[in-house]
Amino acid sequence: AKEISDEEKLYRYNGVLYSTLLSPEEHLKCLEKMQAREDDIMLVAYPKCGFNWMVGVMRKIIAAATGVKSESKIPPLMEFYGPENLKVESVSPSPRFLGTHLHPNNIPASFYEKKTKILVVFRNPKDTMVSFYHFSNSNPALPSAKSWDTFYSQFMSGEVAWGSYFDHALGWEKKMDDPNVMVVTYEEMKQDLSESIRKVSSFYGFSLTDAQVQQIADASTFKAMKESSASSHGNMGNVFFRKGEVGDWKNHFTPEQSREMDEVFNKRLAGTKIGAKLNY
Ligand code: A3P
Repeated sequence: AKEISDEEKLYRYNGVLYSTLLSPEEHLKCLEKMQAREDDIMLVAYPKCGFNWMVGVMRKIIAAATGVKSESKIPPLMEFYGPENLKVESVSPSPRFLGTHLHPNNIPASFYEKKTKILVVFRNPKDTMVSFYHFSNSNPALPSAKSWDTFYSQFMSGEVAWGSYFDHALGWEKKMDDPNVMVVTYEEMKQDLSESIRKVSSFYGFSLTDAQVQQIADASTFKAMKESSASSHGNMGNVFFRKGEVGDWKNHFTPEQSREMDEVFNKRLAGTKIGAKLNY
């Protein structure tokens, strides 16, 4: 990647910040016309909610259910594609496994028209913020966080790559009754991974045996995925598989910040279905 300053690493598209290097304007523009297929397998997550974890799980589910082994390398997000890769995707065989961090309103319209099944991974906002903070400091494509307090303010006001956590949550709230959308939380996966694997499989119409579910769960623990991360994620392995715990926010948030987050969460997400799922 060419050297650019921290200030240049993010730019604004339709009011939201994106990575200049990974998803430049040209990529976002041509993505709008991407043609979906009904049988696409689409995974969406706000950054740091457990996207790579679910990618690992989904690849194993797809391989077990269809016998087709998908590539195990670091998953590209649709907004990284650009015209060339979009062309490649347009002729790749079904089912395509696609992923994105985009807000639901910015996912190409075709995915809703075709009624593509969309799996959404969400995570409690405090741990998401902590994970995003560390990620910003170890991913050269993102500006490094000046300090925890600065990053805290940026996250709270949505001035981070891919925009506001709360806007994303409220965007999915509007689709909670859509039978083609299913939300699974990081915390649920942590609590009972086998159950999450069963839920995801049946959402996509795959039937797995108990032994297959168990095998996938065993291979998808934090320890197992971290150990194989050098081959799946190269030198970004330790960046994507950092700690893998619920509640690391307690080591970062001041009591005042925690209170403020609770207030904002209540103000924006109280009484919502997604808020109830994210109850932390
Ligand atoms: P932490 O930074 O809290 O450790 P994403 O893939 O969306 O970028 O999310 C990254 C977060 O998911 C990181 O959180 C990472 O450690 C966690 N993660 C990845 N694989 C995991 C697994 N198998 N079990 C638990 N957490 C996992």
